[in-house]
Amino acid sequence: MSKVTVVGAGAVGATVADNIARKELVKDLVLLDIKEGLSEGKSLDMTQTASLLGFDTIVTGSTNDYSKTANSDVVVITSGIPRKPGMTREELIGINAGIVKGVTENILKYSPNTIFVIISNPMDTMTYLALNTAGVPKNRVIGMGGILDSARFKCYLSSALGCSPNDLQATVVGGHGDTTMIPLTRLATFNGTPVSNLLDANTLDKISADTMVGGATLTAMLGTSAWYAPGAAGATLVESIIRDEKKLFPCCVYLDGEYGQNDICLGVPVVVGKNGWEKIIDFKLNDEEMSKFNKSADAVRNMNSVLATL
Ligand code: LAC
Repeated sequence: MSKVTVVGAGAVGATVADNIARKELVKDLVLLDIKEGLSEGKSLDMTQTASLLGFDTIVTGSTNDYSKTANSDVVVITSGIPRKPGMTREELIGINAGIVKGVTENILKYSPNTIFVIISNPMDTMTYLALNTAGVPKNRVIGMGGILDSARFKCYLSSALGCSPNDLQATVVGGHGDTTMIPLTRLATFNGTPVSNLLDANTLDKISADTMVGGATLTAMLGTSAWYAPGAAGATLVESIIRDEKKLFPCCVYLDGEYGQNDICLGVPVVVGKNGWEKIIDFKLNDEEMSKFNKSADAVRNMNSVLATL
């Protein structure tokens, strides 16, 4: 694999691209945006870090010229408006649905075999929309949300434990929304030891609540949505595809009976490799977790039904 395109040169898209270049995942990296000059400027700026950071990836900007994205192995879609303080991710659907649909169609004209990584919000619904628009096998459309939410979960857990976040295994499933995501506290471990052996229930409840509003907390501070962790999470997902790492991440994928759900894209643990998401892993959720998962699915399904009215 040798080429990745990132659509949307805003803060998240540019940070995904920057991380991909730094990791030297591919030879060719294209950054595309509708705003004249923006992707060219950010690409040139990134290119000028090559000798400082020691990578040989060629970063090319494109103002809406999709021919430059031809034959991409992976395309990351970050396009659309980000949320402002006080907004939910769901409030973005009216504008972002049209944008994501158009981008998906344009990409497919030049890269019919690509794997799509969707970051635009509301992410679960945008993933469902991209899959239905593209009409490609389900394994080739992956929504990025759970990796980011899990990184935030690990961040809060590590500060409570006073440990390295790299010694934690912690997963967030369900939707990528303030009320739909489900931090799986019961299954979280510190190098194999359940965190519930080390932290009391109140602390764990607070960590779970902080994780769920992790994005909103940053949006309130920044005046727009976050980009460092979303960008790093997007690039980590691309890395597992490009390097065929078969890493296990919670990602938003099409469910066809798994976790008791059908005709919906929702966050579950999946193995990610060169074919996109390759298999869904059954974490054997208990009744309480399943009930939260089903509620999350209901909320995402309601949001998906809005697509038909646009
Ligand atoms: C966030 C956005 C990217 O959670 O959804 O920061």
